[in-house]
Amino acid sequence: MEPLNELSPSGVTVPVAVENSLIMKRNVIVCCDDPSRREETDALAHILGVAVITTTETRRSPMDDSAPFYLLVTRDGFALSDPLASREIPFRIDFSSHSANRQRGTGPERILLRKALAIPGTLGKVEQQTSYSVIDATAGLGGDAFQCASLGAEVRMVERSPILQALLVDALKRGERDPSLAATLKRMTLVKSDAISYLERLESASVDAILLDPMYPDAQSRKAQVKKEMRWLRALVGHDGDAGSLLKPAMRVARKRVVVKRPPKAPLLDPDMQPTGTISGRRIRYDIYPPSS
Ligand SMILES: C[S@@+](CC[C@H](N)C(=O)[O-])C[C@H]1O[C@@H](n2cnc3c(N)ncnc32)[C@H](O)[C@@H]1O
Repeated sequence: MEPLNELSPSGVTVPVAVENSLIMKRNVIVCCDDPSRREETDALAHILGVAVITTTETRRSPMDDSAPFYLLVTRDGFALSDPLASREIPFRIDFSSHSANRQRGTGPERILLRKALAIPGTLGKVEQQTSYSVIDATAGLGGDAFQCASLGAEVRMVERSPILQALLVDALKRGERDPSLAATLKRMTLVKSDAISYLERLESASVDAILLDPMYPDAQSRKAQVKKEMRWLRALVGHDGDAGSLLKPAMRVARKRVVVKRPPKAPLLDPDMQPTGTISGRRIRYDIYPPSS
């Protein structure tokens, strides 16, 4: 059995386990942008099994369609840069902006998510809530996990992409420096693993709710206005072809419900499994499944 790497903001280290490197669509090169972090850069590249270059070398590199992304190690943490879109600001996960955009409001998407996962309590009164545990089995950029944590849930994020793991660890670490995020980030931990094998190792009915939001090959991906975040996600992880296999293990581990997030018109995650409820918004549909044990 492989070791699990559960990380909290207070115990952040560089990722150790590399699983499913093949799910990366475009290759990544680690690029040291801060000489004082060279050792950390080398360790990260070693873990990811990719090359290291310096920023100076980057500028000299020839560019073509197969050019890899650069995972920049900078003074301020990690950021992804696309050499083919050099005018774009490097991308990083920033929980402060999640906070600014989502935490304050009672936006319809946030209300839907709370309702779908049945997170108890009143929005805005986090401190009054009792502990409610959620596994976000497809953490991605951590946006949904952050929302759940800001609603008072204790959230375990499971992510299998080593690059996303590194970006999440970095975001948690940076977020620690923002006092307004401390309480929320304390409720978030990262599990670096494939979620199917992780769930298989957990006891039945051991977490309140599980969220599944695998990549969906959406027709919208061809539209220019697809959110920048989603474009990064697609380029890094592509399509989660094995997503249907998440449902049964999740239903065994969830005590209250499993929630599958889908585009409104997408087919069911598993055509043989009917949800017992559906909550629909303008851009999102949540299919709700009961626990199986
Ligand atoms: C659409 S994104 C999730 C976005 C996320 N809800 C957010 O708010 O940022 C799907 C993510 O799930 C991850 N994923 C898919 N299947 C997985 C599995 N079996 N185990 C762990 N991670 C998985 C992918 O690597 C990808 O990062």
